Amino acid sequence: MRRFDTTKARVFLGNWRTVLRFPYSVPSIDLQRSSNPLLACFLMILAATRTHLPRNLAVSGWLATSGMLAVICLATGCGRSELGYKPNSLHAASLTREGTDQNPISIAKKASEVVETWFGNIDQPKWPTDQVGLADQVLRMDCVERCAGPVGRGIDKVERGLFRKHCVSCHGLSGDGLGPAAMLLEPYPRDFRRGTFKFKSTPVGKKPTREDIHRTLHDGIPGTAMPSFRALDESEEFAKDVEDLVHYVRFLAIRGEVERRLISLHVREGVELESNSQRMQEVLVQVVQKWADSPDDVLVIPETPDYFQTPSDDSDHAQRIEKGKTLFESELTACVKCHGPTGAGDGKSQDFDEWTKDWTILAGIDPKHPKDWKEMKPFGALKPVLSKPRNFHWGAYHGGKSPSEIFKRIVLGIEGTPMPPVARAHNGNPGLTDQEIWDLVYYVMHLEDR
Ligand code: HEC
Ligand code: HEC
Repeated sequence: MRRFDTTKARVFLGNWRTVLRFPYSVPSIDLQRSSNPLLACFLMILAATRTHLPRNLAVSGWLATSGMLAVICLATGCGRSELGYKPNSLHAASLTREGTDQNPISIAKKASEVVETWFGNIDQPKWPTDQVGLADQVLRMDCVERCAGPVGRGIDKVERGLFRKHCVSCHGLSGDGLGPAAMLLEPYPRDFRRGTFKFKSTPVGKKPTREDIHRTLHDGIPGTAMPSFRALDESEEFAKDVEDLVHYVRFLAIRGEVERRLISLHVREGVELESNSQRMQEVLVQVVQKWADSPDDVLVIPETPDYFQTPSDDSDHAQRIEKGKTLFESELTACVKCHGPTGAGDGKSQDFDEWTKDWTILAGIDPKHPKDWKEMKPFGALKPVLSKPRNFHWGAYHGGKSPSEIFKRIVLGIEGTPMPPVARAHNGNPGLTDQEIWDLVYYVMHLEDR
């Protein structure tokens, strides 16, 4: 019988309280380790009945739900299970599906063991100093330690378990994007283990900087379920929590990408999964190096023209819109191909979400055939979804709505999605001038229905 313990439900509730602003208090049972979405949903109903029903009804709601909770606990066993980073069997299954008779579960388990010798376990993370030197250039381990492990305060009164408190309901304990709420959301919560991020100030193929991830946490990603943690970031007491979480996201991404690449190396080239293998250690060093290099690759953005702040007169405005529109519709930029002639996101080009390709295209499965991709469901696969071009009329810019952020998106593209970087005139290369890119930004921003 599957055992579950109960903390994740509290985290689940805690987050939905932030998202939906439910004014309830969390029931005082130990919800530290639940991995059961059913229980979490149940507790949400319970919480809602407590605040939204008249008092006498709320009491009967309490009694009824508590009774059912007891039944679920008896049926499934409310004990504490051993928690750990989940082995990436989805990636192993994807790579071994065709042409090999290897067992994905045992490959993933072995790779996970190698990774654990370098990065520690879910409650006690560590840094592979012997192989890659000190962590300082990439992240701070004291911050990582505060985010890992169960929620609570240690004897030093410092709060720990920040990731489980704020993020697991969507991103999952291992940062695999498979938290209990994941299947209800679109786009799906990010699987950090692929090491690919969308909203950053570095070119495709390069890692985001600390500031990029911090901006995502501060602003959230409007138009998706990713909430803003602005309230924490701007409070005196919790601002450090947000900074610490940035380090933990980097840690999970490095750990996860190393794990993926070890699995690939084993399946494709037959390299043994051993922590002292030189080839395996080379992979570790390469991944860490990419994160250490990211601040060197930041795009320098020219200053935002004044007319974005102070409204210009009508004829200037009309001229700029005209210029932007011409560029938007030109063959050179091909914006309409995806965003559609009116910028409503209804162009012809449609592709599947990159993160769902692991269990479709990468595994040789056509995402349009549910029967086929469902064979990957036991490994955690979710329904493949489309990567939809943005509808500019909604005005929800996922990477931030300031002109300079939109400038970045157009110049750098959005990694992991079909959105390409625009050709920019540079050192004699043909392409758009900075002025033309600002015209595009201006046009796109003025498509919002107000
Ligand atoms: C309610 C669900 C939810 C919660 C809670 C949540 N996220 Fe997310 N997060 C998402 C979704 C959905 C996306 C994907 C958005 C997209 O693809 O555009 C995302 C994306 C991200 C990204 C990727 C940004 C990029 O540039 O690609 C980061 C980093 C991130 N979340 C960090 C966090 C952290 C850290 C926490 C906890 C402090 C957290 N999230 C809590 C749903 C959530
Ligand atoms: C091949 C398809 C494709 C082309 C061509 C394309 N885009 Fe996109 N664009 C996308 C997709 C897909 C997204 C949504 C990515 C995501 O967040 O998942 C997007 C998102 C955007 C965003 C939103 C950024 C944000 O923060 O929300 C802007 C702005 C944008 N595109 C502008 C442009 C402009 C201007 C052009 C032409 C120079 C262009 N796009 C060409 C596919 C495309």
